[in-house]
Amino acid sequence: MKICIIGTGYVGLVTGACLANLGNKVVCVDNNKERVAILMGGKIPFYEPGLLEIVLKNSKSNNLRFTTDLAHGVKGAELIFIAVGTPASKNGKPDISAIIEVGNALSIAIKSDKKKRRIIIIKSTAPVGTGKMVAKIFKDNAIPQNMFAIVSNPEFLREGVAVSDFMSPDRIVIGSVDRRACRALAKLYRPLNARIVYVSNKSAELIKYAANAFLATKISFINEIAGVCAKLGADINDISHGIGLDKRIGKDFLKAGLGYGGGCLPKDLAALIHLLKAHKCVPRMLQSVDAVNKSQINKFVSKIIAVLRNTKNKQIAILGVSFKPGTDDFRNAPSRIIIKRLIARGIKIRVYDPVIKKEIKLVIPSAVICKSVYEAVKGADALAIITEWPEFKTMELKKIKFLMNRPFIFDGRNILDPKKVRALGFTYTGIGR
Ligand code: UDX
Repeated sequence: MKICIIGTGYVGLVTGACLANLGNKVVCVDNNKERVAILMGGKIPFYEPGLLEIVLKNSKSNNLRFTTDLAHGVKGAELIFIAVGTPASKNGKPDISAIIEVGNALSIAIKSDKKKRRIIIIKSTAPVGTGKMVAKIFKDNAIPQNMFAIVSNPEFLREGVAVSDFMSPDRIVIGSVDRRACRALAKLYRPLNARIVYVSNKSAELIKYAANAFLATKISFINEIAGVCAKLGADINDISHGIGLDKRIGKDFLKAGLGYGGGCLPKDLAALIHLLKAHKCVPRMLQSVDAVNKSQINKFVSKIIAVLRNTKNKQIAILGVSFKPGTDDFRNAPSRIIIKRLIARGIKIRVYDPVIKKEIKLVIPSAVICKSVYEAVKGADALAIITEWPEFKTMELKKIKFLMNRPFIFDGRNILDPKKVRALGFTYTGIGR
C-alpha cells in the first residue's frame, strides 16, 4: 500500500521503516528540515538498535522516502498516519497543537485530490476525543464526510526495543466506527500476525493512557514495597521474583530502582490524572503512583548525602544518564535530578554513559564527561549506578576499588550482588535490599 507518515520521531520513523520493510511504499514527512536532511543522508536522529539497518535497506529499495513537503507526501496515499508529538503542558494536559496543525495542513493537501478516499490514522498518543476533533477539522475545511475516515491506532513500542515491539506486538488496537477503514488496517497489519482489538476511537485513545499508567503503577508498587524491605532485611529482588511468578501478576515491570522516566510514562500518567480531574473523578491512586516515583529519587540522594556526610568538594562517579539502557533518551531521566541535587551540595560529578556523551554538558555543564567506568571512578568518594547498562554488571570491582578514594557504592538499579560487593570491602547501598 502507499502510505504517508507525518512525524519522524520514535513512533513515526519506526512505523514508517517497519511498514516499508513489510513491502509498502512509505513516504515520511517532517517539518523539521534538519531531521529530514539527517534521514536523507542515511543516518537516524536518535539511537535505536536495529532501526538504521531497516531505514537504509528500504531507502535503498526506494520503499522509504523522506520529505518536508506534506502535499507531496500524501499524494496518492490511501493511509495517512499522524505520528507527531503530544508533549505534556505544565498541568499535565497533553498539547495537541501539532496534531491540529497537521489536521489543517492535511485538509488542504487532500482537498485537491478529492477522488481518493483517505484513512487518517492517529498513531500519536493523543487525548480522548482527538479523533473526533480531527474529524471536525476536516468537516470545517469542507472535506466531504465520505472522503475520509479517522482511526485511532496507538503504538505500544518501548524505546531501545522499538523495532521488535512494532514487528511483534502483544496486540494491535484499532479504534474506529468505519468498517472499511478497519478492514484496510487489518490488511496492512496482517503480516504481523498479531491479535487485533476493534474498539471505538475514544476507547483506543484511553487504552493507551491506561496501559502506560498501569505500567507506572506496577513500578511504583514494587518501589513502595522496596521501601520497607531494607528495614526488614528482605531483598526486594526476591519479592519481585516471588510475586512475579504468579501469572496474574507477571514478572515484568516489577524491578525496583530509581523509578520510571522517559518521554512516555511520566507524560501519560500526568495526562490521565488531568483527564480524571477534568471529569470530576479523583485520581487518588494515579497521584500516589507519581508521588512514589518522585520519592525514589529523593530517598536515593538523601542516602548518598547521609553516607558522605561532609559533601563539600567530594567527588562522585555517576554511571548511566539515559532514562533506561538501550536508548540515548534522557527525558525525565532520574540522572538529571540526582546530579543537580548532588551538585547543589557542592559535590563534583564525573559521568559515564555508553551512549550519551556531549548532550550531558547541555544539561549539566559542570559535569566531567568520562569515556569509561574506570575514568569516571578515578579518585571518586562514591559511585552511583543510575542506569542499568549491561557493562555495569560486569565491571571489574577490584580495579574500581583501587581507583576510588572511598569504597561507597550506591546501586540505584540493584544490578550488583550485595554479598560479593561487600566481601570486596565496599559499603553497598541498594534499593530495598
Ligand atoms: C513505555 C511503555 O513501555 C511503552 O509501551 C509505551 O509505548 C511508551 O512508554 P518506554 O518509555 O520506552 O516505553 O520505556 P519502558 O521500557 O516502559 O521503561 C519506562 C521506565 O520504567 C524506565 O525509566 C525504566 O527504567 C522504568 N522501569 C521499567 C522500572 O523502573 N522498573 C521496571 O521493572 C521496568
